[in-house]
Amino acid sequence: MKVLVVYDSVYGNTEKIALSIEKELKSSCNIRSRRAMDVDLSELEKLDLLIIGSPTQWNKPIKSIRYFLDRIPKEKIAGLSIMIFDTRLPSNFVGILGHASEKMARAIEKKGARVLSTNGFLVSAGGMAIESTEINRAVEWIKTIEVS
Ligand SMILES: Cc1cc2nc3c(=O)[nH]c(=O)nc-3n(C[C@H](O)[C@H](O)[C@H](O)COP(=O)(O)O)c2cc1C
Repeated sequence: MKVLVVYDSVYGNTEKIALSIEKELKSSCNIRSRRAMDVDLSELEKLDLLIIGSPTQWNKPIKSIRYFLDRIPKEKIAGLSIMIFDTRLPSNFVGILGHASEKMARAIEKKGARVLSTNGFLVSAGGMAIESTEINRAVEWIKTIEVS
């Protein structure tokens, strides 16, 4: 199975999740990970699964991810299976306005892609660092992939 992980990260949390996913799938898949601004759109060809990850900033994905989503042509993504994740704060207060995942899912579904699953991984409210339990949760989540 050919898999591409596209992510961006300002403080390293989203990158930790992306690289843990890559490591987990390495033995069973042909997988690469790329920062959003480094993706060549030809890398989307013949993919079985695209995984996209962004930090949540101001309730949405960061600019480089929004730009990546904007620049994917419909014909390259229609019917493609996608898994989406974000990193976020645990607070219910900021959660009211939503997170990056839902917004990324909506944008990519508009282009005809098939979103299999979305998830959000929590940073600690104090240190803004990703917890190891959340990295483990991401690894368990990625094992649930069922691409038809
Ligand atoms: C400017 C800024 C805005 C943020 N806005 C939100 C938000 O709206 N909702 C939320 O849950 N977390 C928010 N956060 C927390 C980030 O989602 C969290 O720190 C994330 O893990 C950062 O990912 P990164 O380390 O990959 O850059 C914000 C953080 C920053 C620095």
